[in-house]
Amino acid sequence: MTARDGTTEWTGRRGRLGALLMVSPIRRLEESLLGCSGMKLLRHVFSSLRDGATVLDAGCGSGYLSLPIAAKLSFGKVIGVDLSDEMLAALGRRARAKAVDDRVQTLKAPVSSTGLEEGSVDLVVSNNLLHELQDTAAALAEWKRVLKPGGRMVLSDFRSTRLVRFIMSREHGEEASNPMDVEDMASLLEQAGLEKVEVIPCRHKLLALAEKPSPRAL
Ligand SMILES: C[S@@+](CC[C@H](N)C(=O)[O-])C[C@H]1O[C@@H](n2cnc3c(N)ncnc32)[C@H](O)[C@@H]1O
Repeated sequence: MTARDGTTEWTGRRGRLGALLMVSPIRRLEESLLGCSGMKLLRHVFSSLRDGATVLDAGCGSGYLSLPIAAKLSFGKVIGVDLSDEMLAALGRRARAKAVDDRVQTLKAPVSSTGLEEGSVDLVVSNNLLHELQDTAAALAEWKRVLKPGGRMVLSDFRSTRLVRFIMSREHGEEASNPMDVEDMASLLEQAGLEKVEVIPCRHKLLALAEKPSPRAL
């Protein structure tokens, strides 16, 4: 795992600690101070989720989105993709503890090259990942590739506010992308060839919704 992948901070001892913090009450406090509540994000995810769906959680961490999605599905699956062994191990443990492990698959891969079959996923979700990537367009291209026509994306990430830029400049090095504003996020999704793009600012965060075009009926 290299700094180019933006994941060195999520490995080893830091990774194990991060995996715990990401699902702790401290996390809920951070979410409510900086952005939309996790519940608001999940409402958007659930409104794009059909039972039996295959969901890709890009940069899944220890399961902040994967686990509630798996709990909502009676069949179907969430594929949690991450490069950190510690995060994937924590997700596996938590899925077993919550008895949803039959609906959670972990995959160690870069989010821009998952190896998943083209057109095999109904919904792509991602939270707090995009700002860590060096090449966000490559990630979007991969997520579009694996989506079925008409499949949806529900993405959330930090917004480019003064506070967020200050925090990011201390947390991440030059290898990471800058946090985006509404226009940057919308144009990233449009340039990836997605449609029905909607970007909702939520204090220091952004919520983005988009869809992979379906072939036009003749
Ligand atoms: C800030 S954490 C967010 C985790 C989770 N989505 C959440 O909201 O709790 C970012 C996660 O993305 C993973 N990650 C970063 N760059 C990645 C890449 N290029 N490919 C796969 N995973 C990556 C990190 O290992 C980490 O687990």
